[in-house]
Amino acid sequence: MDWKPDRQSHLTIHVQIIEWMKTRIERGDWTVGTKLPTQRKLAAQFEVNRSTINLALDELKADGLLESKVGSGTFVANNSWNILLNKSQPNWQQHIEASIHKPNYHTIQLINEFEQKDHIIRLGTGELSPELLPTKKIERSLKSLSLESRAIGYSEPQGSKKLRSVLCEYLKKRGIDTAQENILIVSGALQALQLIAIGLLEEGAIIFQDNPSYLNSIHPFQSAGMRMIPVQRDGNLPDTLRIAKRKKQSLFYCVPTLQNPTGCNWTIGERQTLYHTCKQLQIPIIEDDVYHELLFEPSSSPALKSFDQSGQVLYVGSVSKTLSPGLRIGWVVAPQSVIQRLADIKMQTDYGSSAVSQEIVAQWLSSGLYESHILQLREQLKLRATFVENILEEQFKHIATWKKSEGGFYIWLRFKEPIVNKAFFLNLLKKNVLINPGYIYDTSDLHHIRLSYAYASLEELTVGLNSLIEVIS
Ligand SMILES: Cc1ncc(COP(=O)(O)O)c(C=O)c1O
Repeated sequence: MDWKPDRQSHLTIHVQIIEWMKTRIERGDWTVGTKLPTQRKLAAQFEVNRSTINLALDELKADGLLESKVGSGTFVANNSWNILLNKSQPNWQQHIEASIHKPNYHTIQLINEFEQKDHIIRLGTGELSPELLPTKKIERSLKSLSLESRAIGYSEPQGSKKLRSVLCEYLKKRGIDTAQENILIVSGALQALQLIAIGLLEEGAIIFQDNPSYLNSIHPFQSAGMRMIPVQRDGNLPDTLRIAKRKKQSLFYCVPTLQNPTGCNWTIGERQTLYHTCKQLQIPIIEDDVYHELLFEPSSSPALKSFDQSGQVLYVGSVSKTLSPGLRIGWVVAPQSVIQRLADIKMQTDYGSSAVSQEIVAQWLSSGLYESHILQLREQLKLRATFVENILEEQFKHIATWKKSEGGFYIWLRFKEPIVNKAFFLNLLKKNVLINPGYIYDTSDLHHIRLSYAYASLEELTVGLNSLIEVIS
């Protein structure tokens, strides 16, 4: 032990002694139970006052690393990593609380945690059941992919040319006439929303949206300092938008086809009104169209983007709800200047989406595999929706109302009484049933749950809905 504190150091003597002793404990040189030399010996060895030794030992005792035994001396009491790490790390909690991005609601954190547990019945999940995902077929695609030499390098800022070119053809069927230069490949629609939030809007900008809204459950705009304004799409809409817009930059976010969480599908009139109102007021629109292929019956549900001749609409799509959320592939269609701006930020964020995923999606979209998969998927979802609606009809008619599903994953179930609070959510969780309560999409809503027939098996749906009845009665 010939170490001595450095008198030239910017650290005080007693802090140097603390760090030296901690290192001995951390390395295991001093194991739990080791007796330290007396204070007098330590003071002599380090050539410091006994009061300095005393100060250092007191701090280590307060941290739980040392303990004094009356009449016996001072001993190493603990070498737990937790204690050592806590004392040597910055105050991360303070960093976390002061940081920019909002945390998830506690209910959503619980949903994310419990969704991964096998024994849980997922009655609200916005994901296809494993049995509806074409896993084996994707495995076969992976085996059959022939990759060009640069195919798995970093892709271009806007994403794989091949996929963008395939998407141009695919989007034509949705009435959207676009070019490769106007497409950005993103890692899921969620990333598109995040890029738009940080790349196109000033702090304090206003985001108009329907209420309830998917955006309230994920906060991409709220975290970037934007104000969310729920609006009614009625006759007063132009005035509401005009007044709010005067003060700040603004944008309208919407999911006109099979909205999340309500499953609502706008009429063609509603689509045209919103588009023309926003166009007149020069308010850009984000059209989030991730569910459109899951409409059960062909109906007049054109994309707002298909009306757009002037670059008013930022169109967002994805394969997450139809093919695989795990591939993490989505796209944005927008004017070139917007696409280049978003691509520039994306390059600073992740250098592009997975090259392998882009190859797979290009193959599925161009080979007809995707189209035939969607036809089957729609039929399966239709059967599941009818199954759940039959149970609702038999067991829920006296306590709740709902609209027949027009497609997608969800039924927006409204209880007559305001019973859907956090305690209700937790009571169901105790019965291993996970729901998406309405209050995560509209904080003041205590009437709804977003019921999903897409994930749980038919048996689980029966058991889960029975548990729901039990908790209510
Ligand atoms: C309306 C809507 N937009 C975007 C997303 C995110 O999709 P992705 O998995 O493509 O990021 C979801 C997922 O739930 C959604 O419901």
